[in-house]
Amino acid sequence: MRTTVGIIGGGPAGLLLARLLHRAGIDCVVLEARTREYVEQRQRAGMLEQGTVDALREAGAAERLEREGLVHQGIELRFERERHHIDFPALTGGRTVTIYAQTEIVKDLVALQLADGPPLLYEAEALAVEKPESATPVVRFRHEGRERTLTCDWVAGCDGYHGVSRDAFPAGTARSYAHDYPYSWLGVLAEVAPSGDELIYARGERGFALHSMRSPTVSRLYLQVPNGTDPDDWPDDRIWDELAARFAIDGDWTLHRGPIMSKSVTTMRSYVHEPMRHGRLLLAGDAAHIVPPTGAKGLNLAVSDVRVLARGLTRLHRTGDTQLLDRYSELCLQRVWQATRFSDDMTKMLHAQPDGDAFDHRMQLARLRRITASRHAAAELATNYAGLPLPV
Ligand code: FAD
Ligand code: DHB
Repeated sequence: MRTTVGIIGGGPAGLLLARLLHRAGIDCVVLEARTREYVEQRQRAGMLEQGTVDALREAGAAERLEREGLVHQGIELRFERERHHIDFPALTGGRTVTIYAQTEIVKDLVALQLADGPPLLYEAEALAVEKPESATPVVRFRHEGRERTLTCDWVAGCDGYHGVSRDAFPAGTARSYAHDYPYSWLGVLAEVAPSGDELIYARGERGFALHSMRSPTVSRLYLQVPNGTDPDDWPDDRIWDELAARFAIDGDWTLHRGPIMSKSVTTMRSYVHEPMRHGRLLLAGDAAHIVPPTGAKGLNLAVSDVRVLARGLTRLHRTGDTQLLDRYSELCLQRVWQATRFSDDMTKMLHAQPDGDAFDHRMQLARLRRITASRHAAAELATNYAGLPLPV
């Protein structure tokens, strides 16, 4: 097979890139290792920055998102049994965020792609990217029991954190930075109306809890748990009791309980791979960087990378100008490091530290009090949460 852009990975990054390239008249092929059903059901992110919504609109993939997405004006911080509203429009000059599940974005992009191309191959596992320095890099992959090759002008590595694209950077051409956190998240999806209109980030001595939602009838909740936790050790009643204890405030508020549809445990890691380009291989999304989920940045970063990449490839296609592609890694990484810093700050401020002492505990509270007492500090949080400006 031959194509202009070979895209490895049919998650949000790969699918959005394919859509943007298709609209710009650039041909591409997407190789996805798993089945369509698996990719469409994988529970992950849900909070979209305005720039992410704009990018999906630009790709012609926002019709259902505009109908069903829940626009949020801010978040709530809970600590010491108090609740504090952080008002995004007032603090950021009118910006908001939107709740719309990653599973739904993927379903919308897959439906468009299967309707009018470009090709999307499921159960097509990339094995390696070869000759990334040459004018015609090759992706070796396995499909329908046979080993095949895809020869490309460019390869986009959108194959997530466990993909193979990063391995094609020869030794000495890249450096990675990683940090593991000493706790995980137990995430549950529950068939029950959300217990409020806003996302709630709660910090307490029992640990962190997050209340999010997927629709007016489905709630998404997360609990800080120790690394190595087995979700089977958390029967539904235990989960609801623990959530109720962590969200408790002085005053009126009730946690709505309902049937739990799924449970899973996610470890937490920061990781950045620099640079994001080697020759004609360009990494985007989780293939190049991951953040702990507390700031809800992972999916948003994947989309902002793809936007730069699509613009760079489109400019090259239309005018022969490589300037934007040449600056791809540098442009993306500035935003990646800021999102990594923000996610790390949010994570450390809100989670109970397993080996923390009384001093650490008071520092966390002082950080939270500063946000609720100072408009300047609240604006800093709101600006980062709602999303820093896109690189292009
Ligand atoms: P992915 O979504 O990982 O997509 C990569 C795709 O490549 C996958 O479909 C994979 O099957 C495919 N692939 C992998 N290897 C190969 C190969 N060799 N050949 C072909 N295809 C391959 N972010 C948030 O903002 N909030 C959250 O709550 C949140 N929760 C998360 C929970 C989990 C368990 C995980 C793993 C991530 C979570 N994230 C969250 C992060 C967010 O979901 C990711 O940042 C986002 O999925 C990145 O999109 P991506 O397309 O870059 O990567
Ligand atoms: C969601 C996940 C997050 O990590 C977050 O910070 C906010 C929302 C969610 O899944 O809805």
